[in-house]
Amino acid sequence: MMNAFDPTQDRRAFLRTAMGLAAGASAWPMLAAAAGGAAAADAASGTSSSSATALQSGARRSVIIDCDPGQDDAIAILFALGASERLDVRAITTVAGNVPLNLTERNARIVRDWAERTQSLPVYAGCPRPLTRELITAANVHGKTGLEGVPLHEPLAPLAPQHAVAFLIDALRAAPPHSVTLCALGPLTNLATAFTEAPEIRNGIREIVLMGGAFFERGNITPAAEFNIYVDPQAAQVVFASGVPIVVLPRDVAVKAPITPARIAPIRALGNRCGTMAADIMAAEVAYQKGRRGVEEAPMYDPCATGYLIEPSLFKGREVNVMIETVGEWTLGETVVDWSGHSGRKPNATWITEVDADGFYAALRARLATLP
Ligand code: BDR
Ligand code: CA
Repeated sequence: MMNAFDPTQDRRAFLRTAMGLAAGASAWPMLAAAAGGAAAADAASGTSSSSATALQSGARRSVIIDCDPGQDDAIAILFALGASERLDVRAITTVAGNVPLNLTERNARIVRDWAERTQSLPVYAGCPRPLTRELITAANVHGKTGLEGVPLHEPLAPLAPQHAVAFLIDALRAAPPHSVTLCALGPLTNLATAFTEAPEIRNGIREIVLMGGAFFERGNITPAAEFNIYVDPQAAQVVFASGVPIVVLPRDVAVKAPITPARIAPIRALGNRCGTMAADIMAAEVAYQKGRRGVEEAPMYDPCATGYLIEPSLFKGREVNVMIETVGEWTLGETVVDWSGHSGRKPNATWITEVDADGFYAALRARLATLP
């Protein structure tokens, strides 16, 4: 099956495939109004500023987390696992990003051990590099292991045997229509590869909730681009053209809920293993920013995505059209958000800009408290 798509094909050929997917997507109901789900109906309901009603509180979501742990990915995973009455996390798929794939998949297995989910939460390894570009990592930020700040043990159990893309295809094919939420916390290579190889699997997806992009804030890897989108802009283009309902938690919102020593303290005071791990990781993130920028705070990235799934009422955003810059000399990976509607292009995402930061940290602490 995997032979049908060769991620090493040249960029021009890949983009032709991607454009074909984009064109085909028009037949697939944009924002899935036919889904009958709150996500689809609310997402299709208008373009004015509104609270993030793409997701209704109370419904238990069936979730697959696609990630590149990564310090903040680890906290995001723990946050999700601590909210089991809201989120049924079925699997973790990993991708190369913050660190190479052999470390992201290993770190995901370590994090599931912390939460004592070793046997019940499969981890799949996916794509080892972006679709057409060389891998750029953020090991300078997340440390050589990808989980700077905490002691790491040898994972207690091996990877699931399937490739993450094959797993995604099988799982989404078997899923009831519009039933699975994909929570994407890294470069979008796994998702784009799955969509390109088996476009029909989009029908099994309820929505994609992703951390990525920047608009009102500038980039964090280049002046124009946020890391997850910059690492694999071609993959991001495929995902944003897919027609699947998308909720974006960009840098714009991450900087509005900064990690500070005062916010770490109550989490450390929990005294449990997962609270301590999260506190130590957050402290390492703050220490990095202090060294780099001289401030004692760090953006809260990936946990905003799982936080949105757990407590959507804490967030506000707006439906907009988002295009991905894939050819710019200085702007590669930029998320071009049509905030004012000039382009006339239909909305393809809900772009989150606001968060109740204190509410967010209270929710994070409460969910971590339920874990070992
Ligand atoms: C994103 O990039 C990664 O370094 C983080 O894990 C997060 O997903 C922030 O730009
Ligand atoms: Ca990440």
